[in-house]
Amino acid sequence: MMRVTFPSTRSFSGFNAPGRVECDVLGLEVVEGAIPGDLDGTFFRVGPDPQWPPLHGDDIPLNGDGMACAFRFKDGRVDFKSRYIETQKFMAERAAGRALFGVYRNPYTDDASVQGLSRGTANTNLVWHAGKLLALKEDSRPVVLDPHTLATLDDSYDFGGQLNSPTFTAHPKIDPVTGDMFGFGYEAKGEATPDIAFYVIGADGKVSSESWFAAPYPSMVHDFGVTREHVVFAISPLVADLELLKKGGPHFTWDSSKDVYVGVFPRPDIGNNGVRDIRWFRAPTCFSSHVMNAYTDRGPGGEILVHFDTPAGDMVVFPFFPSKNGERFDQTRAVPYMERWTFDLSNPGDAFQRRKLAPFEAEFPRVDDRYLMGKHRHAWASSIHDGATKGITGGSVSGKNFNALAHFDLATGVTTQYYAGDGCGIQEPTFIPRPGSSEEGDGYVVALVNHLAEARNDLILLDARDFKKGPVARVRLPLRLRNGLHGNWVAAADLEG
Ligand SMILES: [Fe+2]
Repeated sequence: MMRVTFPSTRSFSGFNAPGRVECDVLGLEVVEGAIPGDLDGTFFRVGPDPQWPPLHGDDIPLNGDGMACAFRFKDGRVDFKSRYIETQKFMAERAAGRALFGVYRNPYTDDASVQGLSRGTANTNLVWHAGKLLALKEDSRPVVLDPHTLATLDDSYDFGGQLNSPTFTAHPKIDPVTGDMFGFGYEAKGEATPDIAFYVIGADGKVSSESWFAAPYPSMVHDFGVTREHVVFAISPLVADLELLKKGGPHFTWDSSKDVYVGVFPRPDIGNNGVRDIRWFRAPTCFSSHVMNAYTDRGPGGEILVHFDTPAGDMVVFPFFPSKNGERFDQTRAVPYMERWTFDLSNPGDAFQRRKLAPFEAEFPRVDDRYLMGKHRHAWASSIHDGATKGITGGSVSGKNFNALAHFDLATGVTTQYYAGDGCGIQEPTFIPRPGSSEEGDGYVVALVNHLAEARNDLILLDARDFKKGPVARVRLPLRLRNGLHGNWVAAADLEG
């Protein structure tokens, strides 16, 4: 007899109890406003949703199997579909009827029967590029999904034999002008190595540039920035250690004794030395993970200024990665604020400037991707309304309950919040352009609202540049989608084309 019981820990209970529901719901109920009739496309999002109870008693929320969701918008109607991504890990464990893979990103804790299989969960992002829907997790290669059925087509995609790195980021950047995708793999020479393989992949899916460099130390490199002229890698000290892995320990620990390093190099696709000209900037320790956008500008004296917008906190945001030096997790010091980091390439020093963009907590920053890599005016993020801590046990990966979305107007400096409501949380905002308009920020922000007590979600659409109006439309889901990670909108014309 095999009894299936999940632990009653924070990763597996409350709003974060495993969902495990693969379903189709046609015509979700519209309970407020109306879905704009000209929206024709799909909002894809993905998140961790464990298939089986963990092998070793408990687990961190980042380690669940990827559950892909598609919200198909057409003629004022929204159809919903959810499917598990059939990774090598998922299929081996499905056949066994139990977990076989152990601790997050620690192959030394796996059942011997799964040696050599990909440990990837494909649970972090769904990105459309070169006619393929890529399900991404930074510890492994992309998984290709059918965008209409969400069926898994390739469980370890190497771009036709062109990807030498065993890993690929969940946050590639697509150049809105050329259609090229910029991406990288870190720990690219094996577990806990400092090596990063950097790629440019053309709009035809062919790798046009591959180059390797080493970070000052091995650490989580979750995201990066690309401007029209430069590439930016921020290295924060959430470090990886092979000896700790061999002892069955966590993949990452927080090492506040180390400085932050930021590598800036010219884009190799515009005729130069690329990573061979990398310059490392340095600052006292802090934690930065996501990147809102980056752009290259010229100062009043012609200085070359690279701006890099990132949520940053004084210590790591994840309470489940222990400190290397016995420091206690401090939620106040871990609070991420949106910051602008500016690197003056005309100045020979290694210092850079940091300034806050808003006085409240914010993470999961996004822009209108048609303006990515250039100077952006509008941006959105998950945030906490007026510092409210009500419903703090909402169970996002940081343990926080984001209960508001923020709109940043960087031209006026005004930030506006949309509060999701008492007893609610809200997931990452994703921008949807208004059909027929190319103006920056003209369109909608789509996000899932978590009704914590009811254990159910709504999908809301807000006017992206006017949060004060309230939702343009609210769609009621008859089920609970636990906190996901990232999503993207793909217009029907792109999916068909
Ligand atoms: Fe992310």
